[in-house]
Amino acid sequence: MKTQVCIIGGGPSGLMLSQLLHLKGIETIVLERQSREYVLGRIRAGVLERGFVELMREAQCGERMDAEGEIHHGFYISDNGTMRLVDLEKHTGGSSVVVYGQTELTRDLYEARDKMNGKVIHNVEDVALHNLNEATPPYVTYRSGDDIVRIDCDFVIGADGFHGPSRKAIPKDVLREYEKVYPFGWLGVLSRTKPVNPELIYASSDRGFALCSLRSQVLSRYYIQVPLTDQVEDWSDDAFWDELKTRLPDDVAARLETGPSIEKSIAPLRSFVAEPMRYGNLFLAGDAAHIVPPTGAKGLNTAASDIYYLYHGMLDHYLKGDGSGLESYSEKALARVWKAQRFSWWMTSLLHTFPDTTAFDQKLRSAEIGYLFSSDAALSSAAENYVGLPF
Ligand code: APR
Ligand code: PHB
Repeated sequence: MKTQVCIIGGGPSGLMLSQLLHLKGIETIVLERQSREYVLGRIRAGVLERGFVELMREAQCGERMDAEGEIHHGFYISDNGTMRLVDLEKHTGGSSVVVYGQTELTRDLYEARDKMNGKVIHNVEDVALHNLNEATPPYVTYRSGDDIVRIDCDFVIGADGFHGPSRKAIPKDVLREYEKVYPFGWLGVLSRTKPVNPELIYASSDRGFALCSLRSQVLSRYYIQVPLTDQVEDWSDDAFWDELKTRLPDDVAARLETGPSIEKSIAPLRSFVAEPMRYGNLFLAGDAAHIVPPTGAKGLNTAASDIYYLYHGMLDHYLKGDGSGLESYSEKALARVWKAQRFSWWMTSLLHTFPDTTAFDQKLRSAEIGYLFSSDAALSSAAENYVGLPF
């Protein structure tokens, strides 16, 4: 087979880029290791920055998001029972975020790809990248049953998540990896219950962090910080709800509607960046190149800026013969990635309980929260990062 851009990974990054390029007449093939059902079964965060929202619209995939997504003008931070609003609109001069589940937007992207007869090949095995930094064009191979299929292309996009083969195809003496692993995870529960609050609540307490989020007015998503040694089986639904309540302000806990979990999982928290994001004709995007802890919901939104820069770089290359956007891709993408890393690390450090915390650290953390809510400058900084820095 032959295509212009071979995209490895059919998550939001790969699908979005494929859809955007196809609309401009640039051919792509997407290779996905899993079935579509599997990809759509993954529950991930659901807060979209304006930049992502605009990309969905440009990709002609924004209809359901615009109809069903909820616009959020602020979020709450609770500190040992005291709840205060970060007013996004007020502190950013009118910006907001949209709450719309990643599962739903991935479904929208698949449907859009289907409508345009986009080529998305599922259940591919043994994907391998070849000739990435040679004078001759690159190619990708995969196995389908007993057959090895070869795809010749101009560029390879590694949008295959943290565990995919693309990043690993960059030689060790070229790739630099920066990582921070946090000593806790998030236990998440999805339940068919009315959300406890119209806006999200990020709750810090002596017993650990908790988050009240939502997917819609009948679907809630809650998380609590747990030790890395905990297993999902250790947590009955009742134990989860009881612990969540202890970490919320009393009046919020009192009105929390509980119910059976429809999904329950534990995710470790990690900050990770791989540099550079380009090697020859390979470009990394999304989780393949960077991971953020979920506090602040920057994962998908950081993938969005990669896709934006790559999309425009590809357009300039194919439509204007101008390679400068692709040349500067890694540098531009990483500059924004590190700012999102900083913000996610800051929110994580501010709101979680760390096992080796001293009394001094605790006091500093309280002072930081106190400062945040006493200063318009600090609130503006938090708000402009939460709604998303410009691309
Ligand atoms: N071959 C083909 N596809 C692969 C391979 C492989 N060897 N390995 C992984 N993949 C696929 C995964 O199955 C997955 O569907 O690549 C896809 C990567 O998708 P995501 O992990 O969702 O990453 P990305 O598309 O960059 O999405 C950005 O934002 O909220 C965050 O982490 C969250 O997934 C989210 C991310
Ligand atoms: C979610 O709804 O899953 C969610 C929301 C906000 C976050 C993280 C996760 O910061």
